[in-house]
Amino acid sequence: MKLSLVVYIATGLLGAFASKMRPTTCTVRPLGAGKDDTSQVETAIARCGHYGTTVLGPGEYNITRKMTWDLVSSKVDLHGYLNFIPDVQYWLNANSTYRVVFIQDQASWFVVTGKDFVIDAYNTGGIIGNGQTWWSFYGNRSRSDGDGRPIAFTLSNVTRGTVKNFRIESQPFWCNTVADSSDVVYDGMYCNATNQDPLYAGQNVVPNTDGQRLIRLHILVSQLTRATATGIDTYRSDNVKLLNWDITCGDDCLAIKGNVTCRGGNGIAVGSLGQYVDLPDIVDHLMIEDAKMVRLDPQVQPNMGSGLYLKTWTGTVNGVPPTGGGGGGGG
Ligand SMILES: *[C@@H]1O[C@H](CO)[C@@H](O)[C@H](O)[C@H]1NC(C)=O
Ligand SMILES: *[C@@H]1O[C@H](CO)[C@@H](O)[C@H](O)[C@H]1NC(C)=O
Ligand SMILES: *[C@@H]1O[C@H](CO)[C@@H](O)[C@H](O)[C@H]1NC(C)=O
Ligand SMILES: *[C@@H]1O[C@H](CO)[C@@H](O)[C@H](O)[C@H]1NC(C)=O
Ligand SMILES: *[C@@H]1O[C@H](CO)[C@@H](O)[C@H](O)[C@H]1NC(C)=O
Ligand SMILES: *[C@@H]1O[C@H](CO)[C@@H](O)[C@H](O)[C@H]1NC(C)=O
Repeated sequence: MKLSLVVYIATGLLGAFASKMRPTTCTVRPLGAGKDDTSQVETAIARCGHYGTTVLGPGEYNITRKMTWDLVSSKVDLHGYLNFIPDVQYWLNANSTYRVVFIQDQASWFVVTGKDFVIDAYNTGGIIGNGQTWWSFYGNRSRSDGDGRPIAFTLSNVTRGTVKNFRIESQPFWCNTVADSSDVVYDGMYCNATNQDPLYAGQNVVPNTDGQRLIRLHILVSQLTRATATGIDTYRSDNVKLLNWDITCGDDCLAIKGNVTCRGGNGIAVGSLGQYVDLPDIVDHLMIEDAKMVRLDPQVQPNMGSGLYLKTWTGTVNGVPPTGGGGGGGG
């Protein structure tokens, strides 16, 4: 009895020791055409996503199902692209995606969570969203927010996370969302939703391909309020920074600060404010600096009536999620 207890403790200690000693770098290469890379990417993140480095070499990784990266004190070198299969019907099944963004019940196919991490995609990697398949699919169908089209890249419950030099090619829907997070820096973000289906030339067939959505940043809001009240910016690090963004889209390109280029779409939106009757939306101390608005060839992307606009709701509630009653701003 006693002996087995000792053995048990020794094994436990060995286990703890072994876990400290396990390799701190995991390296992955794409398996190649026709192969599914999802499992090998998940395995690498499971082994090295805590206190390690995960290196995904150049090329395309075939991602066939929803995926979460839980990162703690770690780095991911993403030299290649996560290519999310262009299977509209598969992703539209609610079971195929996460619902971490509860407002408007939006779907996510890729969620990063955790703390103290850096994801660097070196401007050679990121996400392939295969948006054209989606835009053409919806070209002659009606759409609504919350219909299950996945957000390309979601950060959820992140503390001190950095995403660098990340490219998102043809997001089907919103390009980025960060929810319930603090101290997040995006430095270098490229999103490009450009329709190339001649059937829809001259139309905005890429609606809802917003550049960034900032959701439920309680910490950000409360800390900033407190900092402002005292006049001392002691909570400066509790924030989300968007630096060096280059967004081509057919909807809102929301930015807060620093080197943002919006090509086409609706420009920078403040809102929608007041969409939910019981959720007051207060936007305060919004600073936009160094933003460049570029009108595109209207045959490619006809929108961009204004560089910045304010969207508010009329006070009527229509359906779930609520949509505008006509007259007021929606979306
Ligand atoms: C991705 O994996 C699926 C399932 O194995 C396979 O059918 C498909 O051909 C692969 N796609 C690519 C682009 O390799
Ligand atoms: C989603 O999964 C649940 C539980 O497994 C199942 O009852 C439901 O039918 C599934 N829905 C769809 C649309 O496949
Ligand atoms: C929608 O467009 C596709 C081509 O992109 C076409 O095959 C299909 O018949 C159209 N559907 C309707 C309902 O017009
Ligand atoms: C957020 O992450 C922390 C650990 O970093 C965890 O304890 C907490 O349960 C998570 N919260 C949610 C809402 O997932
Ligand atoms: C966006 O994609 C379109 C189509 O591939 C391309 O023509 C355009 O140059 C891209 N824009 C940027 C800023 O890379
Ligand atoms: C914005 O870009 C300019 C020139 O490209 C650079 O000098 C500056 O440091 C950048 N600002 C930020 C906040 O990255």
